[in-house]
Amino acid sequence: RIAYVNGRYVPHGEASVHVEDRGYQFSDGVYEVCEVFGGHLVDERRHMERLQRSLRELRIREPMSRKALSHVLHETVRRNRVRNGLVYLQVTRGVAKRDHPFPGDEVEPAIVVTARSVDPRKAGRSGEKGIEVITVPENRWPRVDIKSVSLLPNVLARQQAEDAGANEAWFVDPDGYVTEGSSTNAWIVDRDGQLITRPADFGILRGITRTVVVELAEKEGLKLVERPFTVDEAREAREAFVTSATKLIMPVVRIDDAVIGNGRPGSIATSLREKFHTLAE
Ligand code: PDD
Repeated sequence: RIAYVNGRYVPHGEASVHVEDRGYQFSDGVYEVCEVFGGHLVDERRHMERLQRSLRELRIREPMSRKALSHVLHETVRRNRVRNGLVYLQVTRGVAKRDHPFPGDEVEPAIVVTARSVDPRKAGRSGEKGIEVITVPENRWPRVDIKSVSLLPNVLARQQAEDAGANEAWFVDPDGYVTEGSSTNAWIVDRDGQLITRPADFGILRGITRTVVVELAEKEGLKLVERPFTVDEAREAREAFVTSATKLIMPVVRIDDAVIGNGRPGSIATSLREKFHTLAE
């Protein structure tokens, strides 16, 4: 495997960043995960736009032009011979003597790109069985709309799910409303077949997959409401599912101790999943 690190393609095993990289010391950086499907980067433009927004919100300089970055992404995919899989891109504020304020303008942002193949039939990717989720109290900072590499609460929540024999954790705000998953957006389908997902305000990351599903629902003539939903509503829902570049559209068959629907993936989630790649750019 090959990784791109600050202007060079290097063997993955030797790819490394400086010990004083601010991403390493302060989580002072942002990232994107983009699906590769048939050798093509799914929704590349939207991922690049979200990256630019994350960088802007944190006042990190763009490491290179959008065109140059696109070339690096494609080249990393090509060098790793990925047909179906994922590309990971991370930009940090760069390398500087450890000190909290931003370093001077002479410090260049640091960039890393990796790519790997994922077998679509492998567990966790195939939507056949669906996944189980647990709920945990929302304990993240209020700017989760920024795709920052500061993911400790997400990591802890996800591990809690694993420890409970589940596959994802949904964060729940103090009023009992689900915000999103540790690395996915959360959805339910109510008894009338209406899709419900939280508005992409500051409480969640505006998932690219989420945006595609909003468009797909419209195209399919499904009713969709963007509003917060409670855990109680979710437990009673006809269907539930999560969306992300890694899980695509993944049915949820259990929330804590509540079985969703008949305990098998719901028909709307399954049908959206099958149609996803027809609409994703
Ligand atoms: N996570 N919400 C959170 C907190 C996320 O980390 C992600 C993505 C999403 C879904 O966004 P998208 O549809 O653009 O992938 C929502 C990536 C995949 C990750 O951290 O691995």
